[in-house]
Amino acid sequence: TWTTGNIVEEQIAAIREQVGDKRAICGLSGGVDSAVAAALVQKAIGSQLTCVYVDHGLMRKGETEQVEKDFVAATGVQLKVVDAQERFLNALAGVSDPETKRKIIGREFIRVFEQAQLEILQEDGPAVAFLVQGTLYPDVVESGGGTGTANIKSHHNVGGLPDDIEFELVEPLRQLFKDEVRMVGQELGLPDEIVQRQPFPGPGLGIRIVGEVTKERLDLLREADAIARHELTAAGLDREIWQCPVVLLADVRSVGVQGDGRTYGHPIVLRPVSSEDAMTADWTRMPYEVLARISTRITNEVPEVNRVVLDCTSKPPGTIEWE
Ligand code: XMP
Repeated sequence: TWTTGNIVEEQIAAIREQVGDKRAICGLSGGVDSAVAAALVQKAIGSQLTCVYVDHGLMRKGETEQVEKDFVAATGVQLKVVDAQERFLNALAGVSDPETKRKIIGREFIRVFEQAQLEILQEDGPAVAFLVQGTLYPDVVESGGGTGTANIKSHHNVGGLPDDIEFELVEPLRQLFKDEVRMVGQELGLPDEIVQRQPFPGPGLGIRIVGEVTKERLDLLREADAIARHELTAAGLDREIWQCPVVLLADVRSVGVQGDGRTYGHPIVLRPVSSEDAMTADWTRMPYEVLARISTRITNEVPEVNRVVLDCTSKPPGTIEWE
């Protein structure tokens, strides 16, 4: 019979068989899939696995700590954290166009990740021959089914490495759907905050600031987002709501009155959506009282924000994210 325990046992055996006594690398994104894939591989091959987490500074409040502390505590994984916050901020300076932001974030991410891979390759120990990926069954079907390899090209400033290194992929979640991945994660003892995490885009808060991305704006948005997430969870809405982007309209100002006087601050948009697969979505008719609580708290606790608005657009025509 098909139980979570069986899946775990089977995958551990398969991973051991595939990797042998070589080493593997796994990139952690903070998301469910890479976390569960890494935890499975860790269970199978222990210290032969090294995980890499690129801290691009675009995560929500507490998420980097979740990876660095909670995930490591739960799995005992060997983790290499690359603090690339400055690098991403510099690369994003002066850029407001959504597609350009996405391209810059994607490009910088690959560069930083590859550099980390090269450093791991240079460490003493058995050959690094495998790259772990959290590919799920729906991804396999969408992409036509083949297993693969991944190339990294060594950069010219790193000496002593072959020109082109090929990794074989380890994809222990290839037969699973999302809900099964969550069950496996639970079975492996991962914290709920990681296993039950709602979808969050790779480019992170970088595409939830309409306008240029700056450190100040990221900090402000992180606070507003943390308040919204806290209140949605406290109200028991995490299952009904697929995800709720919180967006800072950094290029918009409006007049308000706060404390002793007139303000000229930025709006925050709440975008709660209900969906099955993110291809289409409806805006969630969430309780007014919860909206009121979020609005009051954000405008009281986050300086610079003097207005909270609700996005009541379905997808289509609106996408879930604003950029
Ligand atoms: P849209 O905005 O296109 O989003 O309706 C659909 C779903 O995809 C997520 N999303 C991303 N996920 N990298 C990701 O891993 C991305 O670049 C990205 N852009 C959007 C979005 O949060 C929603 O769940």
